[in-house]
Amino acid sequence: MKKAALLGTGSCLPRRILANSDLERLVDTSDEWITSRTGIKTRRIAGQGEENYKLAASAAREALAMAEVPAADIDLVLVATITPHMIMPSCACFVQAEIGAENAFAYDLNAACSGFLFGLDMANRYIATQPEMKILLIGSETLSARVNWEDRNTCILFGDGAGAVVLSGADDRGVLASSLFSDGRLWKLLYMDSPESRNPDLRSEERKGCYLQMTGRDVFKFAVKSMEEAVERLLNETGYRIEDIDLVIPHQANIRILNRLAERLSIAPEKLFVNVDKYGNTSAASIPIALDEVHRSGRLSAGDIVLFCSFGGGFTWGALLMQW
Ligand code: ACO
Repeated sequence: MKKAALLGTGSCLPRRILANSDLERLVDTSDEWITSRTGIKTRRIAGQGEENYKLAASAAREALAMAEVPAADIDLVLVATITPHMIMPSCACFVQAEIGAENAFAYDLNAACSGFLFGLDMANRYIATQPEMKILLIGSETLSARVNWEDRNTCILFGDGAGAVVLSGADDRGVLASSLFSDGRLWKLLYMDSPESRNPDLRSEERKGCYLQMTGRDVFKFAVKSMEEAVERLLNETGYRIEDIDLVIPHQANIRILNRLAERLSIAPEKLFVNVDKYGNTSAASIPIALDEVHRSGRLSAGDIVLFCSFGGGFTWGALLMQW
């Protein structure tokens, strides 16, 4: 059976860089606190002309150029996002129009920070039955618009950006297996409400719920435990050992989460990809931005095994193995 394999990758980060020292002027925090608790030094913030779908389209153009695939040859545009430009139409439809993918069908996928991983799994399932399909999968977010810039517990963590991949069927490389999970009972630990979707008499005090809300310590514990279990389950099911993995590309949420995970799974530090210091947590965009950086750096060779893992609001979490 053919597997969804990468033909090209791309990414787009907004121009504006917000450093920890800039946050010191917004909330009661310090560079030292943010760096030691999260590993984040800077994040990107979208401005005029950098709407979610425009970041997504720029990342897509890069991926299409690398893949040497014209936009008109794309069969599916799939965008993982929790910050779409509008509730309707989907961000994917905006991207489709923006890049001229006129022969594609297009829709969004919401699995929070696990969106890109869930999208890779979905793309792999399309390709299993239609191996010729060319799929443009994007993770793209403008979280800065949904963060409360007066809440030091959350505003220091997030950033904006987009990453994209072009996928098609291959025999000798691509997605090998995945292990995905959700638990909707835990939604209150991490959510972004949208009361205007259900309440016509929206009162202003309800607006505070529109921002991202998080119980940080519980999310932290769950993130480590859930990703560890997902990876162990995937390795058990596939017969791969942790030593067989050439590179781990995790969702970039917090360096302490990643280091704790690496410790518990005995992942060698040099095999753990980290760029959370530069971009913060970009939710569904974090893995494809990382993947593009890895791809362009040339650090992987044909046949290498890459392990992805993520967790996010919902809760959603999982792990996925890909052969380079
Ligand atoms: N600057 C200074 N002090 C702060 C800040 C800040 N930015 N934020 C919180 N504090 C204070 C708190 O008020 C608290 O003070 P107190 O002891 O006087 O009450 C103290 O620091 C400790 O707060 P904790 O919340 O216990 O700090 P913790 O070590 O847990 O770190 C953090 C907080 C960084 C949010 C951590 O819990 C975390 O990373 N959680 C996971 C977050 C995450 O990854 N979320 C995204 C997941 S999914 C997705 O990507 C959408």
